[in-house]
Amino acid sequence: MKGKADRLSKLPEYVFAALDRIKAEERAKGADLIDLGMGNPDIPPPPEVIETLNTVLKDPANSRYPAFEGTEEFRKAVSIWCKKQYGVDINCETEVTPLIGSKEGLIHFAFSLINPGDITLLPMPAYPAHFNGTLLCGGEIHPLPSNQQTGFVPNLDEVDPGVAKRAKLLILSYPSNPTAACCTKELHEQAVRFCKKYDIIYIHDFAYAEIYLGGVKPPSALSVPGAKDVCIEFQTLSKTFGMAGWRCGFAVGNKDLIKQLSSIKHNLDYGLFMGIQYAAAAALTKTEPAYFEKVRETYKKRRDIFVEGMNKLGWNIKKPEATMYVWFPIPKGFNSSSFAMEILKKTGVVVAAGTAFGELGEGFARAALVVKEERIKEAIDRIAKAGICFR
Ligand SMILES: Cc1ncc(COP(=O)(O)O)c(C=O)c1O
Repeated sequence: MKGKADRLSKLPEYVFAALDRIKAEERAKGADLIDLGMGNPDIPPPPEVIETLNTVLKDPANSRYPAFEGTEEFRKAVSIWCKKQYGVDINCETEVTPLIGSKEGLIHFAFSLINPGDITLLPMPAYPAHFNGTLLCGGEIHPLPSNQQTGFVPNLDEVDPGVAKRAKLLILSYPSNPTAACCTKELHEQAVRFCKKYDIIYIHDFAYAEIYLGGVKPPSALSVPGAKDVCIEFQTLSKTFGMAGWRCGFAVGNKDLIKQLSSIKHNLDYGLFMGIQYAAAAALTKTEPAYFEKVRETYKKRRDIFVEGMNKLGWNIKKPEATMYVWFPIPKGFNSSSFAMEILKKTGVVVAAGTAFGELGEGFARAALVVKEERIKEAIDRIAKAGICFR
């Protein structure tokens, strides 16, 4: 058989696919796994979403190919959502495109932009789609220093001007997966200034926009005046509305960048099932504020149980202010993947090794709080009983 394309060999193994294999093996041996591995939300979507889908499924017209640019209703709903939630004006004709999930959009955006040798600036550790898109296109990642000391937020003033001049893309994403770090609007202001100065395109991935646990609402990058000159922002319904399996997201922002992303998608996919677009429009416009409060309250309680439980075992984890993740250091004597394996084999608790998010994730693991409180308590009990602690 002839070999695979070179671009595939540039990619690290997709850790969550590998983890799925290991989990299946452990389950086949009878293990009762508590899966804190993938950020796969277990909170159901708002009822309006299910009702809308049920209704629109009856219309055969919705089973046809959708228009490439999405339904008018979906695009208007996105525009209403951005204004209501973030005070951002979006022209629903030219500044929105629907996505089959934001992972799809992020990777395809890289395909529409990155040539071999182009540089993407990215704080590491990062969500894999933030580096895999660039790598698939033959581009290079220039990691921006972001570690515990810097609160996992980069300082763009420290980027070498020589590198900045050569860079084509900056990707930021706050609240962050995997570190759960948040940023202030000043970082977006700095990013917009920086990108204008060096003629760089700014992607802000706003996947956890509504999963804030500390009372401070994360800012949209597009709320910075003039951001639309350089910026495209990605959002997903996966986390905000518990719709991960529905595969629905959108990009908003600079109209030329939206057009560029749409034109690559015209050649790759047929867009988003119309039933999902109608249901998503209902989610964006009809969901009661109480739904979001409940989601935040649920993750907050789980976070408290997990962090307080781990801290009793010797950790000193600060409670994250956003996302459904806890990013925590691993004990001495392990590396990230040997620790993830140890905890899985000894306790049946699945966590992600920090290196799933790039080499700079070494020394850490990530727990995704996507199981009920009782199961989180049980996970902590099992870890304690197995004698695993932080020294
Ligand atoms: C930062 C970030 N962006 C995007 C995604 C993917 O979202 P979607 O389900 O819309 O593809 C995730 C999923 O975990 C994520 O953490």
